[in-house]
Amino acid sequence: MSMLDYGVPLLALVVFGVLALSAVKTLRSTAKAGAAGASGDAQKAANAAQEEKEDDRVPVAVYFGSQTGTAEGFAKDVAKIINATGRFKTRVLDLEVAERTPEKMQAPKLVLFLMATYGEGDPCDNSIDFMEFLTKNAEDGGPQDGWADGIGFAVFGLGNTQYEQYNEMGKRVHARMTALGGTEVHPLGLGDDDDDLESDFEKWREGLVESLAKFAFSDEDASALASAGANAASQQAGALPIATWHATYVPSPEDEALRQRAGLLEKPGSNNSHVDISSRQYYSCTRATVLETRELRQDTGAGNTIHIEFDLENTSLKYETADNLTVCAANATALVESTAKLLSLDLDQWFTLQPVIADDDSGAPKPLFPSPCTIRTALTYFTDLNGAPTRSLMQHLAGFVSLAEHRERMLHLASRDGAADFHANIAARKLSVAEIFETFPSFKVEEDNLGVFFELMPRLKGREFTIASSSSSQPSRVALTVGVVREMRSENRPFEGVASTFLHRLSVGSSALIFIKESTFKMPEDPKKPIILVGPGTGIAPMRAFVQERIHQRQTRGLETGETVLFFGCRREDEDFLYKDELKDALASGALTTLHTAFSRQQAEKVYVQHVMEREHEEIWRLLEDGAHVYVCGATSMGKDVTTALVKIAAQHLGNDTAAGTKFVADLQSSHKLIQELWSS
Ligand SMILES: Cc1cc2nc3c(=O)[nH]c(=O)nc-3n(C[C@H](O)[C@H](O)[C@H](O)COP(=O)(O)OP(=O)(O)OC[C@H]3O[C@@H](n4cnc5c(N)ncnc54)[C@H](O)[C@@H]3O)c2cc1C
Ligand SMILES: Cc1cc2nc3c(=O)[nH]c(=O)nc-3n(C[C@H](O)[C@H](O)[C@H](O)COP(=O)(O)O)c2cc1C
Repeated sequence: MSMLDYGVPLLALVVFGVLALSAVKTLRSTAKAGAAGASGDAQKAANAAQEEKEDDRVPVAVYFGSQTGTAEGFAKDVAKIINATGRFKTRVLDLEVAERTPEKMQAPKLVLFLMATYGEGDPCDNSIDFMEFLTKNAEDGGPQDGWADGIGFAVFGLGNTQYEQYNEMGKRVHARMTALGGTEVHPLGLGDDDDDLESDFEKWREGLVESLAKFAFSDEDASALASAGANAASQQAGALPIATWHATYVPSPEDEALRQRAGLLEKPGSNNSHVDISSRQYYSCTRATVLETRELRQDTGAGNTIHIEFDLENTSLKYETADNLTVCAANATALVESTAKLLSLDLDQWFTLQPVIADDDSGAPKPLFPSPCTIRTALTYFTDLNGAPTRSLMQHLAGFVSLAEHRERMLHLASRDGAADFHANIAARKLSVAEIFETFPSFKVEEDNLGVFFELMPRLKGREFTIASSSSSQPSRVALTVGVVREMRSENRPFEGVASTFLHRLSVGSSALIFIKESTFKMPEDPKKPIILVGPGTGIAPMRAFVQERIHQRQTRGLETGETVLFFGCRREDEDFLYKDELKDALASGALTTLHTAFSRQQAEKVYVQHVMEREHEEIWRLLEDGAHVYVCGATSMGKDVTTALVKIAAQHLGNDTAAGTKFVADLQSSHKLIQELWSS
């Protein structure tokens, strides 16, 4: 007799009461076995037994395209919810793995895509090849017509409305899967990181189980599963979720080098695809020493912007002019210490993490972060203590508090009904995760729940910086231009940006964990081509690198260089005119041919770079007609305004034809002659 023969109410009970409970029991016993040092074979046998018991479940593949781990986290979240029905067997899959064998994607009949968009409407690093495959024509090696026949799919895109190509990847996957014959089982969801991404995701998740069930089973079963889903959610509230990782306290290791670093892995990993996207950075970074650090502002009354250089000499790191450098920053010592106190954790305790269950295609969950390590290392490098808590984190953290009133309040804030309360009292006040520990001071984290604690806590993400030096003129020294983030929050709570403050505090001779990534900012191969550089504020970083490259081309290589026209903006000439002297020297040498400035607060009306560009439209149009490449770097909002200004200029010179102006700028973009590197501030 199948489970469904018991009817609806019984189904809900049986599926959630028995299957979920038995799963918990199996997992708990495996956790204990793991803690006692059980062999991998025993673990595999336990997992196989569980799989055998549940092998009539319908497979669902949950693919994620993710750059910094949000889509990956959402994929895991949604998989937990679908799995909790007991009727589906989900696999959370990195698109990087899927793209190597796209034919395998056709095997499960239900496929979900959680797709983040990166760059300028580009795929994330882990989905480049897959997107190329999916969007290619059949004759060029892409999928054949009808490739997705019989597949039920649903897509949630993660994007940000600040970017021109909003949610491009989610939309593209949705369109291609439809065109290739797939059946959309649940409407396309588009999440906006500029607003409330988590709520968008929650809305998309509503009714998802029912949609999947409608495709896989009968209508009656589908509604049974939907109510079962609600039961599962309420059963889970206030309890710790099933752990994938178990922590075991271990003595301080014999290895002196490891002990010195408190377990922090510093060997650059050649292949880090076996780890989570969100922890990949820890397997890729290298320690580099600070060679120089200096203030760039003339007046620091309103804040600091620093120039910092790292030594690449004794590292394997190489870079190209204006590539991106990621800093794996450390949380401030005072914050780590106060957090440990609130959680009753001993910072010098060593621990190791072991998987409890297998949850991905390769049969082994991917490491959260390198261990063994100390709790101090885990809280300093691997845990985002300063970041914004999400409602789902709030729900999970409720399982760690001992006071019932705290737990109830946290669960209310995490619930749909408490969304407005959460917004007013947590999000709008910009409370951090660490401040949640402070607000509900009955948290207790112990050896038994330390694994699941670190599993749930968000990872501290590396922060990217655009390299501000030329690899031709200084191949083993890499420079950054860093705006130090400092804010005063409500109730007089000072806030310091994690990475920028960390970099600001570094002195010559100290070091940081970094890695380097290629960027789309590339100078034209022909040095005679003119370039238009738009880089207000810290957006000057790659422009400084380009000017340095021009100096190198002229002075060291004796080359003739094209016009180099820079638009720079800041508040006032005597306050934050970054690299003022260097730029004036570059002008005098002829490497920089024109410098246009926009000092926003130096006169009654605000003047920004886009205004100065519009004023200089004749020069810009002449350079564009001469094949100039345009580079824009800095805040996303500025990038939008600059694009609008370019459209206006092109329209003006094309017979006041806005459509022609828009097309001209779109063509510049598609031919990679207009390149933007923007970040939301
Ligand atoms: C491709 C790329 C290139 C970049 N290049 C540069 C560059 O050359 N120079 C440069 O200075 N920057 C650059 N950035 C930005 C940089 O990566 C960082 O975002 C910036 O330095 C701030 O990081 P932080 O860790 O100091 O601040 P964070 O700690 O990340 O804080 C930044 C902001 O996040 C928000 N925030 C943080 N915590 C909370 C909370 N609890 N609740 C609500 N909101 C919160 C706040 O608005 C805060 O101001 C670049 C970004 C990208 C993506
Ligand atoms: C450098 C950068 C470029 C981005 N480009 C786009 C874009 O072109 N379009 C868009 O909709 N969102 C864009 N985003 C927003 C991300 O898609 C969004 O923040 C998402 O939640 C990231 O998910 P992830 O953590 O899984 O990578 C960009 C974000 C960054 C940091």
